[in-house]
Amino acid sequence: MRPLIIAFDGPAASGKGTLASVIAVDYGLPFLDTGLLYRAAGYLAHVRDIDPALAASLIDAEVLADDALRGREAGERASRVAAIPEVRAALFKYQQDFAGQASGAVLDGRDIGTVIAPHAVVKLFVTARPEVRAHRRWLQLVKLNPALTEAEVLEDIRIRDERDSSRSSAPLEMAKDALLLDTSDLGIDAAIATARSLVKSRL
Ligand code: CDP
Repeated sequence: MRPLIIAFDGPAASGKGTLASVIAVDYGLPFLDTGLLYRAAGYLAHVRDIDPALAASLIDAEVLADDALRGREAGERASRVAAIPEVRAALFKYQQDFAGQASGAVLDGRDIGTVIAPHAVVKLFVTARPEVRAHRRWLQLVKLNPALTEAEVLEDIRIRDERDSSRSSAPLEMAKDALLLDTSDLGIDAAIATARSLVKSRL
């Protein structure tokens, strides 16, 4: 039997990370948030003032646990270094090895179903309207930065969507064989229930 690889892709704050981690627990599969790798590469390049592709090769468990990766600047830096082909190449093998584990795996990101694991058994493309995503992301970020406005977060999201979708190297796009899940009008429980039934429909 083919190992069970489940790919979650979609734009910022669409809910894909939350849904992917629930599905990973459901099926007892290891889970990789690939966005964290790009966040770590952008962050390391900045704090050490080094080439982003070199930074991508230096990522370790300590960097990945750094709270700074969760912030607004880290997301913005991640999307800038993610457009550099050498950075994507430096992170490719780790992600592909993770996806290739005999146990199967769940990965979330932008190019899992298209580039990292095109042979994934289940592919979900999770999206939501920009205003809804901005509201969700603002609720997370305002705890760290009380002065942040929702309008600023919406602007960040629009810039990031545009950059992630228009880059030439592995742009954010829905794989032809992916199932679409729009979480705009779904609460968390309904989104989880829908993700569960979509995954089941492919098994
Ligand atoms: O949580 P959020 O969706 O805001 O961001 P993330 O998943 O942590 O990803 C941060 C950035 O990394 C994205 O805006 C993408 O530019 C980049 N990324 C990517 O290019 N490919 C991936 N597989 C994952 C993230």
